[in-house]
Amino acid sequence: MAKPQIYDVLHREHEEVSELFHQLEEAKGAEALELFARLKQKLVPHSRAEEAVVYPRLLEESNTADTTREGIEEHKQVDKLLAELDAMTPDNEVWQAKIKVLADMVGHHVDEEEGELFPRAKQVVSDQEAEQLVDEYARERDSFVEDIRLEQRDAAE
Ligand SMILES: [Fe+2]
Ligand SMILES: [Fe+2]
Repeated sequence: MAKPQIYDVLHREHEEVSELFHQLEEAKGAEALELFARLKQKLVPHSRAEEAVVYPRLLEESNTADTTREGIEEHKQVDKLLAELDAMTPDNEVWQAKIKVLADMVGHHVDEEEGELFPRAKQVVSDQEAEQLVDEYARERDSFVEDIRLEQRDAAE
């Protein structure tokens, strides 16, 4: 079997995020809050590790630089909405609306990564490099997961 490439890992995580959004759009109260925490724990480390490991490489190539810059701006928009949701609870009358907008935003971003950025990246990044990026990405992501876990633990105390 071929070794996984960075695109395979990112794709799998995109699917996990999308599944969490489906559940979150239906959820209310404590369940919604719990799902939102799980969503952040998936989505934020994913974005930070893309920014730390994947995007810098793609900014070096004229074939992928513009789409990458767009991606970075989209991450910022997503972060803003996450912060707004962080400041409220699911009983707020705009919670559901913000979750929907966030889901649309992330869905659009993922479509652009998978439909435009990754196909372009495959033209300029060798298969071997795309395999090597997996370990580097996973290391970054896991350190962000740990940061968030500690933050959430401190917040709960
Ligand atoms: Fe992504
Ligand atoms: Fe992304």
